[in-house]
Amino acid sequence: MLIAGNWKMFKGPRETEEFVRAFSPPDGVEAVIAPPFTSLREAVAGGTTVFAQNVHWADEGPYTGEVSAAFLKELGVAGAIVGHSERRQYFGETDETTAKRADQAFAWGLRVIACVGETEAQREADETEDVLRRQVAALPPHPDLVVAYEPVWAIGTGKTATPELAQEAHAFIKTLIDAPVLYGGSVKPENAAELLSQPDVDGALVGGASLDPESFTAICRAALHS
Ligand code: PGA
Repeated sequence: MLIAGNWKMFKGPRETEEFVRAFSPPDGVEAVIAPPFTSLREAVAGGTTVFAQNVHWADEGPYTGEVSAAFLKELGVAGAIVGHSERRQYFGETDETTAKRADQAFAWGLRVIACVGETEAQREADETEDVLRRQVAALPPHPDLVVAYEPVWAIGTGKTATPELAQEAHAFIKTLIDAPVLYGGSVKPENAAELLSQPDVDGALVGGASLDPESFTAICRAALHS
């Protein structure tokens, strides 16, 4: 089981140091934290496996505001999240740029968590499978690829997919690609065990509830028994 905490734009270096001091995940679960770029050094120093929240597709160059895989490797970062729905929604990320970022991460020996998921309108229009098929088809198959199924309507809204609905989407994704699939979208200590006990749920990508060391530890513990 892989339990990854996506901190989004929360926690600078000082708060990151405080978090890693307080965080001790149980053995038997792989815990990953993905802080903002400027907190990566402090996160790595804390000893937990660290992912970045994005990575650029070029080795270096005139790409203002972007960060290369080489820079991440230099800091001891283990992988990167790509294609998060907030990147797709607010920063023009597409299936194509998501794939380019993933390819580059693999070329540098980084692992990848690639996010897919339908919006509420797409689910209501019965387009979920089409959206997932298109998003997953764009991803480069690789032994270090992990897919995160994050229904956009469940992210940061408190609306979690039911375990049955998550299971259904995960099983569908697994017909498309051979990779572990994490569930993401309002995962909390209270709902983690039930979601993680679904047969095709291989872990979680946790936003809000990963910011507090106690709740993130509780989710990691729930994974242990699932
Ligand atoms: P959430 O975020 O757990 O706060 O819903 C999940 C994510 O966006 O990765």
